[in-house]
Amino acid sequence: MMLTLRDVHAFYGKSHVLHGVNLEVGEGEVVGILGRNGVGKTTTIKSIIGLVERKGLIEFNGKDISGLPPYRIARLGIGYVPQGRMIFPGLTVFENLIVGAKEENSDKLKEIYELFPRLEERKEQLAGTLSGGEQQMLAIARALMLEPDLILMDEPTEGLMPLMVTRIKEVVHEINERGVSVLLVEQNAKMALETVDRVYIMEKGMIKYQSSPDELKENPDILVRYLGVKT
Ligand SMILES: Nc1ncnc2c1ncn2[C@@H]1O[C@H](COP(=O)(O)OP(=O)(O)OP(=O)(O)O)[C@@H](O)[C@H]1O
Ligand SMILES: [Mg+2]
Repeated sequence: MMLTLRDVHAFYGKSHVLHGVNLEVGEGEVVGILGRNGVGKTTTIKSIIGLVERKGLIEFNGKDISGLPPYRIARLGIGYVPQGRMIFPGLTVFENLIVGAKEENSDKLKEIYELFPRLEERKEQLAGTLSGGEQQMLAIARALMLEPDLILMDEPTEGLMPLMVTRIKEVVHEINERGVSVLLVEQNAKMALETVDRVYIMEKGMIKYQSSPDELKENPDILVRYLGVKT
């Protein structure tokens, strides 16, 4: 397995938020995490990248990363696209792309502009003036600049119109075809089930269910129970 979480607990001060999360992402896989608001999806992502106090086993490519700080985890090849995008609004698109890079990697930049032509057209534009969908593309592109083997995406379709949701879905496929594994957190169950190879459902800081998307589609009661989704 590329990424393995075993019995992961996470804490914000005294508040114990994850209660033993177990999940895996294989090489080349696109894996989804679904769940209602506040169940711990973002905290799971943050525990992988080291942004929250955590306990338990977190292994990436055979190496225990559970004690490492975020910058070291990123350098090992894990990209992070945070919920709410968190781009730098006062920097240009180009500046946002190179801000985390060790050096200006022009080959990588060229590849990224091929994947996101819209960003190349707008490279001198201030990122804060981009549309929501374009800002999301920029957040994904910025994570790809560091050439990750695995990318963690936290609700990339949040607040986007249907056309942009479709575009994000395509982008996830394109990234995956280029050899990057994806762990995708979504509230949009339909989008997730159309995009992932395997899906986990979280409730109260634990994984409660896992299956293939097809199996889940055939179990609408599960969707209703954990997500409140009617099909
Ligand atoms: N910085 C923080 N300090 C204290 N508690 C927090 C903090 N961030 C999140 N929490 C709490 O941890 C729990 C899990 O939050 P988390 O953000 O992981 O949920 P989520 O599944 O990502 O929800 P959403 O779908 O709304 O993004 C919630 O009860 C939340 O209030
Ligand atoms: Mg969240």
